[in-house]
Amino acid sequence: MLKSLEGFIEPGSEEERLVNELDFSRIPDHVAVIMDGNGRWAKKRDLPRVEGHRAGAKSVQEVIETSARLGIKVLTLYAFSKENWKRPKREIATLWRLLEDYLKKEDKVLVENNFRLRVVGQREDLPPAIRRELERVEELTRNNDKLQICLALNYGGRAEIVDAVKKALKDKSVNPDTLDEKIFSRYLYTAGIPDPDLLIRTSGEFRVSNFLLWQIAYSEIWITQDYWPDFRRKHLLQAIVDYQKRERRFGDIHPPR
Ligand code: IPE
Ligand code: IPE
Ligand code: MG
Repeated sequence: MLKSLEGFIEPGSEEERLVNELDFSRIPDHVAVIMDGNGRWAKKRDLPRVEGHRAGAKSVQEVIETSARLGIKVLTLYAFSKENWKRPKREIATLWRLLEDYLKKEDKVLVENNFRLRVVGQREDLPPAIRRELERVEELTRNNDKLQICLALNYGGRAEIVDAVKKALKDKSVNPDTLDEKIFSRYLYTAGIPDPDLLIRTSGEFRVSNFLLWQIAYSEIWITQDYWPDFRRKHLLQAIVDYQKRERRFGDIHPPR
């Protein structure tokens, strides 16, 4: 077992069985997660939807710690979409409050663990206090390189592509004749970040809901029926074990000549 997992995984547990199945030379570099089902988790318990969001914070913590221990380099978490503004004002206000509390409380933990926080999305339209707090923590962690946590906030995949086109058009150094996918991707919010190898969605929905449309072109997708507040280490391990059984061909034949 990896040193970083010793004492973290209980002997004889399902997690240990899954860890033993892992090939540590093929851990995905980038895992992206659509954290869905908070509202339904709460409804099932006769609680207000916001209680689901509160409970989901524990899953966030668990997936961050497990990712770091497994050696994942980038973890992207879909936390608020551009379309989520359609929701009741009270629910939205609670989401921002939870995020603010998280940043105020966890900033030291991010620093101690050498984690870097980065926001992807239309940050200029975030509530000003939240934006300030996010940018404070981005600045505080900018040189950290253990795990990069990308928070997708006020994020829409189509909006990202349109924003990238606008930036590219304004950039005098761009030549339309030589523009290619590699150059174009430098104008996305995710500039410099490798595409996700694995995309996880909770709550059993088989859709991408406008998440990373450009970047997930060849990501492996893993979906669990469990709601986000029930997402635990074992789910991440199951997803990676499954990922490692897939054959990624990227359009080529197998075996490549
Ligand atoms: C995901 O859970 C969290 C956000 C989208 C902010 P939901 O709030 O979408 O929960 P369901 O899908 O309604 O159960
Ligand atoms: C996707 O979940 C957005 C986030 C997880 C932040 P939604 O609950 O908004 O997606 P739909 O509406 O079910 O497609
Ligand atoms: Mg949902």
